[in-house]
Amino acid sequence: MQRRKISNQSFPYPMPMVVVSSVVDDRVNHMAVGWVTRANGSPPMLTVTINKGHHTTRGIVEHRAFGVSVPPIEAVAAVDYVGIDSGDSVDKSGIFDLFYGSLEHAPLIATFPLCMACRLNLFVGEIVEAWVDEACVTNDKPDPEKMRLFCLTMPDNRYWSLGPYVAKAWGAGKGFTPPA
Ligand SMILES: Cc1cc2nc3c(=O)[nH]c(=O)nc-3n(C[C@H](O)[C@H](O)[C@H](O)COP(=O)(O)O)c2cc1C
Repeated sequence: MQRRKISNQSFPYPMPMVVVSSVVDDRVNHMAVGWVTRANGSPPMLTVTINKGHHTTRGIVEHRAFGVSVPPIEAVAAVDYVGIDSGDSVDKSGIFDLFYGSLEHAPLIATFPLCMACRLNLFVGEIVEAWVDEACVTNDKPDPEKMRLFCLTMPDNRYWSLGPYVAKAWGAGKGFTPPA
């Protein structure tokens, strides 16, 4: 196999898109997060890699709690939207219907099929180098379809192939109008 050394920024494996929600200055805020993964089995833990400058981060640090809501495809524009505009400059609190579990500061999105209330914990691993099979490159980038990647769901322990392309990230949300 002919291998090409690529940017250490390349991690083409699909990531589950979620919305992370927190309470900032008494107002709920949401952000799109792609960098999320299961980090521990027992106790069950999620790693979310969130830039410290984000508005959402302030609420997480202050209350040490956050909500993780897993969206359906139908919500792609709203999810992308909360990943483009910051709560520093826009009010994103009314975009989704909410509910809460026992964690007072972990807002959860009522219209999304799966939601998890989380207490703050930690993570990390630096990618130093990366390579890709030349046969799996499209437009100089690793191509998820050519690599024939597959995903795992738990607790049903099933593998899934990738579904069809849905929408452009940092794009689908540009035409989205938040509810008045
Ligand atoms: C597809 C997509 C994935 C994103 N993933 C992350 C992520 O994993 N971590 C992160 O810090 N920001 C991520 N962002 C960026 C934030 O969602 C975005 O900067 C957002 O406006 C922050 O909102 P806030 O300032 O109101 O918290 C993502 C954005 C998009 C569109």
